[in-house]
Amino acid sequence: MSNSKRLRIAVQKSGRLSDDSIALLKAIGIKLNIRDRLLIAHSTNQPIDLLRVRDDDIPGLVMDGVVDLGFIGENELEEKMLERKAAGKPFEYEVLRRLDYGGCRLSIAVPNEMDYNGIQSLEGKKVATTYPYLLERYFKDQGINAKAVMLQGSVEVAPRAGVADAICDLVSTGATLEANGLVEKDVIFRSKAVLIKRADGELSEEKETLVNRLMPRVDGVLLAKE
Ligand code: PRP
Ligand code: ZN
Ligand code: MG
Repeated sequence: MSNSKRLRIAVQKSGRLSDDSIALLKAIGIKLNIRDRLLIAHSTNQPIDLLRVRDDDIPGLVMDGVVDLGFIGENELEEKMLERKAAGKPFEYEVLRRLDYGGCRLSIAVPNEMDYNGIQSLEGKKVATTYPYLLERYFKDQGINAKAVMLQGSVEVAPRAGVADAICDLVSTGATLEANGLVEKDVIFRSKAVLIKRADGELSEEKETLVNRLMPRVDGVLLAKE
């Protein structure tokens, strides 16, 4: 699989980065025949295959060299990097370009009725999140003793369910927080989508050439949208 001659690019199958990432690939001239049920989509005019997966899987696929490139949010990328580093797994990658979509922030939010006077109000408390490594790094930097409680989903209902005192989750419009009686307090990470490449030096010359040929086109598309 990794010695495939075709450049492998991982994209989120469905979610906030999917449409913009596919649109960017099409805008740089890569013709794709995407069929919804299929994991792999072959380009019809370039030696490129698209791997359509869960966004959580993309950093690891790049860091393990299973794919050559990946489109991923910086929040997910940084979290997985910290997790893999702690587990002694390969955690290296190269950022080719920071993109102009997928903007969101990872923020601490607390219930409306909570008396909050800054991050020290969370001393000794539990905070539900899907990003425990980023959150614990923040607590450590701030000198706070609080506990990150890992939840893969429904983070916003954790305080009401009595599972945690506060949450740390992605915010874009703020609608989810509002609907759940939560107020955003501290932004701990600002994120955009990035295009990353495996950093293990294992890309063939042909693939390197192809990537180097595609990058100016990406720059052209980004510039045209400014
Ligand atoms: C994130 C986050 C919130 C929502 C916030 O979830 O977990 O649920 O987006 O966006 P808003 O501020 O515009 O309401 P996402 O859509 O990434 O899906 P997931 O929770 O299923 O991962
Ligand atoms: Zn096939
Ligand atoms: Mg969510």
